Amino acid sequence: MTMAVAMLAAGAGAPVLAAGNVQAGKTKSAACIACHGKRGISSNPDFPNIAGQSEHYLIKSLREFRSGERKDPSTSMNRIAAALSDADIADLSAYYASLRR
Ligand code: HEC
Repeated sequence: MTMAVAMLAAGAGAPVLAAGNVQAGKTKSAACIACHGKRGISSNPDFPNIAGQSEHYLIKSLREFRSGERKDPSTSMNRIAAALSDADIADLSAYYASLRR
């Protein structure tokens, strides 16, 4: 998990304000599969489904986890989001929003 997040952070080269790239988000989602499932539908009820969620909400949630404004009681999301760049958040949000629920 730690390694996946490190790889995720290292892969962030896109300009900060670029619109999310679905394909890049799919690659970066490797770090999310363990909890949120292979295509954003979790098999574990402790983890929310994020496939098909609105892109705006996904971006907002990830930024709030990163800033600490939103706290995950398990702290997982705060830890994970801390390693995400704005481009990572945009790409991941575009990808999960593109999936069917
Ligand atoms: C170790 C398990 C774990 C991993 C890995 C993980 N998450 Fe989460 N995620 C959670 C949990 C638990 C919550 C629910 C937090 C809460 O109750 O606020 C959550 C919540 C979220 C939410 C908010 C969903 C909602 O309905 O409000 C988003 C968006 C999200 N995760 C995206 C991601 C992305 C993108 C990744 C990969 C970069 C990722 N998560 C990796 C456990 C994980």
